[in-house]
Amino acid sequence: MREREDGNNGVFVVFEGIDGAGTTTQADRYGSFLRGRRRLAHVTREPSGGPMGSLLRLVLTQRVNLPSRHRDATMALLFAADRLDHIEAEVAPHLRDGYVVISDRYELSSIIYQSIGLEDEGARADMIAWIRHANRHALKPDVTVVVDVDPEVAAQRRRARGGASELFEEPELQARLARAYLRADEIIGGDRLVHVDGNGDVDTVTDAIIRALEPYVGEGP
Ligand SMILES: Nc1ncnc2c1ncn2[C@@H]1O[C@H](COP(=O)(O)OP(=O)(O)OP(=O)(O)O)[C@@H](O)[C@H]1O
Ligand SMILES: [Mg+2]
Repeated sequence: MREREDGNNGVFVVFEGIDGAGTTTQADRYGSFLRGRRRLAHVTREPSGGPMGSLLRLVLTQRVNLPSRHRDATMALLFAADRLDHIEAEVAPHLRDGYVVISDRYELSSIIYQSIGLEDEGARADMIAWIRHANRHALKPDVTVVVDVDPEVAAQRRRARGGASELFEEPELQARLARAYLRADEIIGGDRLVHVDGNGDVDTVTDAIIRALEPYVGEGP
C-alpha cells in the first residue's frame, strides 16, 4: 500500500456515465469484486447521503424547484458544496484507513451536466471553467472510469428499471451527454481517465472495468 502525499493510503476511484449507463450497478459489483480479493472497499455516490445531498435528490426528482434563470449555476454550487461535505464526512476518512473508495459520480458529472444546456461553445467553456474553480478544493480522484453507453441502450435500461424519471432524462439531452462523456479527456487529462465500453452485458462490463482499473488499484493491500 502506498503512502500518498496527502496522507491518504487508499485509492479514490470514480464511476461516470449518462443516466442508465450502469454506474450504480458497476460500482457495487466492483466493490464486491475487491472485497472478494480481501481489499477494503467502500462504495458511495453523489449526491451524498448528507444534508446537501438530500436537498439535491429532491431537486433531481423535481420535488423542489430552483430559480429557472440560474438553475444550472445553482445546481453546480449545491453539488460543489455537497462534494466537500461528502469528502470530509465519508471519502477522506475511508481513504485514510486504506480503503478503495468508489464514488458513483463526482466532479465530472457536475462539469458535464451543469454545462450541457449551453449551446454556445464559448459560454459553455466559461461555465466549465467556473465549475472547476468552484471545485478547486475537492480531492482529485486517482482515476475516473467513464462507462460509455449508446443513449438508446441506456434509455432501454432505464425503462426496464422503472421508477420516476428525473431531470435530464430527455433523449436529445442524453445523446448530447453521451457525446460530452466521449470527450471527457478534454476535461480530465493524462492517465487519470479511462473509458470502458458499457454496451455489453453486466459481466462483460465488470470484467472490462476490473482490467482497466488493475494498474490503479493493484493487487494490494
Ligand atoms: N450491462 C448491462 N446490461 C444490461 N442491463 C444493465 C447493465 N448495466 C446495468 N443494467 C441495468 O440497467 C438499469 C440501470 O442501471 P444502473 O441503475 O446501474 O444505471 P445508472 O448509470 O446508475 O443510472 P442512473 O444514472 O440513472 O443512476 C438497472 O436496472 C440495471 O440492472
Ligand atoms: Mg445510478
